[in-house]
Amino acid sequence: MLIPEDVLQAKIRELAAQIDEDYAGQDLLLVAVLKGAVMVMADLARALHSHVSVDFMAVSSYGSGTKSSGVVRILKDLDTDISGRHVLIVEDIVDSGLTLSWLIDNLRTRQPASLEVCTILRKPDAVKAELDVRYVGFDIPNEFVVGYGLDYAEKYRNLPFVGTLAPHVYGS
Ligand code: PRP
Ligand code: MN
Ligand code: MG
Repeated sequence: MLIPEDVLQAKIRELAAQIDEDYAGQDLLLVAVLKGAVMVMADLARALHSHVSVDFMAVSSYGSGTKSSGVVRILKDLDTDISGRHVLIVEDIVDSGLTLSWLIDNLRTRQPASLEVCTILRKPDAVKAELDVRYVGFDIPNEFVVGYGLDYAEKYRNLPFVGTLAPHVYGS
């Protein structure tokens, strides 16, 4: 167990309060990155007091392994035209930052009014890469984590907490 459910939910409420304040009076579109970000999206959207729209994008960089391949593929694009919109990308984790930097570049070309990022977890490599992430829940150590949307080979996403995966499970 790395982050218990009540600690996660308290952080979501804290982030939501900040987002409510920052986007007060503005029309906000939350863009979650499938599949990992579904839990954060569902909880964050409900914790916000402002009315927001939601959309989803599916990109994948990890496949079924534990290491980033660096290859980002669009599996599902947005339904929404984001030009002129205030867009907040919602992620479960920024690890190497490859997915996010690719996504930011991709969405920027569509000319949103603003583009920011909210992630519940961030790892040290992402901090080093100096990716501009406006809302961060927790900076965590460089361990393989699962739960609250995060998977290992598509398992453990539905755990309500974040845990570290015992090395013997993924064999390194
Ligand atoms: C995971 C995670 C982030 C990304 C972070 O997604 O949900 O989206 O990797 O890694 P990075 O910073 O090193 O790019 P994944 O590609 O495993 O797809 P998933 O969300 O469907 O699990
Ligand atoms: Mn993901
Ligand atoms: Mg994954």
